[in-house]
Amino acid sequence: MKSYSIAVLPGDGIGPEVIAQAVRVLEAVGERFDLRFALETFPIGAAAVAVAKNPLPPETKAAVLRSDAVLLGAVGDPALDGAPRELRPETGLLALRKLLNVYANLRPVAVHPALAACSPLKADRLRGVDVLVVRELTGGLYYGEPRGRERTRAVNTLVYTTAEIERIARVAFDAARARRRLVTSVDKANVLEVSQLWRETVTEVARLYPDVRLEHSYVDTTAMRLVSDPASLDVVLTENMFGDILSDEAAVLVGSLGLLPSASLGTGPGLFEPVHGSAPPLAGHDVANPLGAIATVALLLRHGLKLVDAADSVDDAVAAALDAGARTQDIALPGEPRIGTTEMGARVAESVVAAALEGLS
Ligand code: NAD
Ligand code: IPM
Ligand code: MN
Repeated sequence: MKSYSIAVLPGDGIGPEVIAQAVRVLEAVGERFDLRFALETFPIGAAAVAVAKNPLPPETKAAVLRSDAVLLGAVGDPALDGAPRELRPETGLLALRKLLNVYANLRPVAVHPALAACSPLKADRLRGVDVLVVRELTGGLYYGEPRGRERTRAVNTLVYTTAEIERIARVAFDAARARRRLVTSVDKANVLEVSQLWRETVTEVARLYPDVRLEHSYVDTTAMRLVSDPASLDVVLTENMFGDILSDEAAVLVGSLGLLPSASLGTGPGLFEPVHGSAPPLAGHDVANPLGAIATVALLLRHGLKLVDAADSVDDAVAAALDAGARTQDIALPGEPRIGTTEMGARVAESVVAAALEGLS
């Protein structure tokens, strides 16, 4: 039996709760497809600061580097909001992304028809929405030097090189080839030199993909278009911070941030995490939506382990649970019955196994 080693980093807040359900679904997939997933859990974020005074301890670093893929929940704890930078949970996550060199963050956003009424947008705007945000993840303002803080002055630096822009652009164009063949490259080229380089470089890469249409769009306009005409977008190619902001905005289309998964890919093991954060007010109440984390397992199987049938089985099971009316509180309409995090995970896991049994009969 083929065995895959997965480093599991539950993190903080609702992270451990949604990851427990994601792992349950992964185990159901193992059972159904006769695959072995060797899971080992390691601390990151505030959970790691608590045990090791370090948001990304050496033990966690070593584990992710020797894994086949990394499954992460979320980091962040309001108790550490005032902590020095080296003790912030988010610093651990940024260091992890850099360590794994996962420069390409894929954030698929597709509206499930059963949930159209959960979005505040009108149903006709949501028809046909299927966007892939391709977010550059290891450069830009998050990492630029110099950076620093004085009492009345603070500095961050936005820097990108041609090589960094080229490699993420290629990811976007390759993805577009398997989709509707449109890349919308997002920038602020009317103001920023970095964006002018971004635009020129993406235009150059586009010459290698004559079968894919490229359009450039300013980030402010794109933010508007994402909610006024989202069906007109296919692949949205963006730098790190614009992608962070636009992907949370895109969550409004699908009905809840708790539904969105992501895959971060680079040169070694991939990092797979839901788009949402640690949602401190929800933690410990069994109310968080685990479907973003569960859909992240599908991305891990598809992109990380290249197990396409197994990945499809998870996506199908999520759709089946939603079609059967399973709703956590964030996606329940007034009067609709709600289930908790654990029950939602159970329903999806059951559906993974049940679909296999149906296949036999
Ligand atoms: P958040 O994503 O935690 O929450 C934003 C909103 O979405 C809240 O209303 C929350 O209740 C809701 N939400 C999020 N996940 C949900 C789920 N699974 N089910 C139902 N509702 C859900 O963002 P925030 O409140 O701005 O940040 C909280 C902490 O998380 C901060 O410390 C932040 O730095 C961190 N954060 C971490 C990540 C990550 O680890 N990748 C991502 C974003 C934010
Ligand atoms: C995300 C988060 C992170 C980011 C934070 C927690 C560093 O918001 O994964 O979207 O900004 O990348
Ligand atoms: Mn974010």
